[in-house]
Amino acid sequence: MKGREKIAMVTAYDYTTAKLVDLAGVDIVLVGDSAGMVIHGYDSTIPVTLEMMLLHVSSVARAKLRALVVGDMPFLSYETSIEDAVRNAGTMVKFGAEAVKIEGGAEMADVVKALVRAGIPVMGHIGLNPQRHLLIGGYKRRGISESEREKILEDAKELEKAGVFAIVIEYTAADVAEQITRELSVPTICIGSGPQCDGQVLVLHDILGLHDNIPPFAKKYADLKTLVINAVKRYVEEVKTGAFPSREYYFYSYEKK
Ligand code: KIV
Repeated sequence: MKGREKIAMVTAYDYTTAKLVDLAGVDIVLVGDSAGMVIHGYDSTIPVTLEMMLLHVSSVARAKLRALVVGDMPFLSYETSIEDAVRNAGTMVKFGAEAVKIEGGAEMADVVKALVRAGIPVMGHIGLNPQRHLLIGGYKRRGISESEREKILEDAKELEKAGVFAIVIEYTAADVAEQITRELSVPTICIGSGPQCDGQVLVLHDILGLHDNIPPFAKKYADLKTLVINAVKRYVEEVKTGAFPSREYYFYSYEKK
């Protein structure tokens, strides 16, 4: 799709929402480790385990999507050794992922090569790497200093050489993302990194307005938080007043169908 049509990627973590985003026409569903925050309520993605991701991946895979399903490798499932990376990514694929995403730049080239050699398509993830927020001092914008710009560009090139089929660029200066998009033959999929990339990705819960903590680069397309609260409020009221269940929602033993 590079150069022909922009790629729309969104996260989903379960069967029902995966089906909905697929019907909406997304190209890629990312079973992101953001699940740790938006589904499990952790403050970061660090506590996310492979077992948690496998449950989410298999739930999404059962929706049998038209879109490509990418499973996010959680923290410490691919950094400890090449063997761990291949085994864990292979398990992700056995559970239904059609590709995996790993965070990191040039230092991950060997891991990418090993995964590709094992037959597993890999998406890279550079710029802001949330799994490294402790090391890099938080969730700050990337690609501002000259040295950081050069490093992100080099990361992109090394990952392409290693065999990734696409690269997520997160919270990075738009001019850096534009240069990477121009110089690479694989597509770039951006989040908070400007419009010149080959595609965009957002977290579904941010798009739907399901919670209050949305990052500055995410656009809220709906206010489901208010919709959900109002719907459940009406249900609670009707239970309290006895308005629910009304006659159409129950039956007596002597009634014929
Ligand atoms: O886990 C996730 O949702 C991600 C996207 C923000 C790219 O990695």
